[in-house]
Amino acid sequence: MYLFQDRGGRSVALRPEGTASVVRAFIEHGLDKTGGLSRFYYLGPMFRAERPQAGRRRQFHQLGVEVFGSASPYQDAEVVALLTRLLEAMNVLVAKKAGEKGAVLKLNSLGCREDRPKLTAKLKEYFTEHLKELCPDCRHRLGVNPLRILDCKEEGCRKAAQGSVVPSDWLCKDCLNHVERVKETLKGLGIYFEWDNHLVRGLDYYSKTAFEVIHAGLGAQNAIGGGGRYDYLVEVLGGTATPAVGFAVGLERVLMAQEKEAPAASSVWENLKVFVATVTPAEIPVALGWAEKLRLRGIPSGVNVEDRPLKRQMEQASKLGVKLTLIFGPEEVEKGVALIKDMKTGQQEPHSLSGLAAAVESRLGNGL
Ligand code: HAM
Repeated sequence: MYLFQDRGGRSVALRPEGTASVVRAFIEHGLDKTGGLSRFYYLGPMFRAERPQAGRRRQFHQLGVEVFGSASPYQDAEVVALLTRLLEAMNVLVAKKAGEKGAVLKLNSLGCREDRPKLTAKLKEYFTEHLKELCPDCRHRLGVNPLRILDCKEEGCRKAAQGSVVPSDWLCKDCLNHVERVKETLKGLGIYFEWDNHLVRGLDYYSKTAFEVIHAGLGAQNAIGGGGRYDYLVEVLGGTATPAVGFAVGLERVLMAQEKEAPAASSVWENLKVFVATVTPAEIPVALGWAEKLRLRGIPSGVNVEDRPLKRQMEQASKLGVKLTLIFGPEEVEKGVALIKDMKTGQQEPHSLSGLAAAVESRLGNGL
């Protein structure tokens, strides 16, 4: 954490993540006393005093979601599904079956507070026997939190971890049932995941379900988003015991993942379907209005805003690869029509303004 004294001599910290802050606010506003379900989201900069590398920044942005008040495995499934759908909506390709390109959802269970001491003791015992193979960080972790050794990326630690016990060996019946429900529900929703019993997450507050979306193409810092259940954190921070589950997505990593699968989609001028051109600058306001109408219907549209000849605009439209161009000239505005030009066939015809957007939509077809 970045921790320092400000000019007034106050000790301040820059938040490294959103969950603890949301929990603090949740308790401060007495929501832990009201019962029921509370759901939050946040979006903002986070700060971690780490050594920067590709994908790892000291300042980055998270979009996070936290749900309080439900201990149900179906709540976990809903939250994991939201993470997957959100990434898909942000144009990140998420694998739908084994071996498919794109990001992969990983799932594990870290057990409850009854399971954890048993697991920790076993891990301590095992890794003490393999002390020589561990990196200096993991030798330190052995005393503090041996669970973290399971997801160390160092070669020696990875090899040592392969033969060790894993959280699922130590889950109680209740935790096993819980994660089975989560798995079944995700399958039912058509969400592909891989069970990874070395997934332990970097933060220590998790219990039961833990998950992460990994993109192999991003290098060492390959998690686009992650989260899990944290049923004890509200209580640990002084509130009434309240079950909770959530996730956060790293927005810079979302951009990196988008570029992996669809390099072209990173420009605002890519993937336009329609261009709205004008014969003289006087029609530009009308053209802007139509571009906006089309965009509001979900049709990516560009529009001319410069004083330049129609010929140049048509060259731009064909360079952009749009399917249709709408042309407005003084005559068209006068008659209440627009010319619709099919860029492939070169054919153009006037269409009345009423029903114009629907006509464009039907010409673009399902593929839009
Ligand atoms: P986290 O796994 O530490 O979880 O961070 C979530 C995401 O933030 C990561 O998957 C990654 O995409 C991004 N991220 C983390 N550190 C950096 C960095 N130094 N540079 C760029 N991106 C980064 C949490 O923060 C939990 N609060 C998530 C959560 C919410 N769990 C329950 N509720």
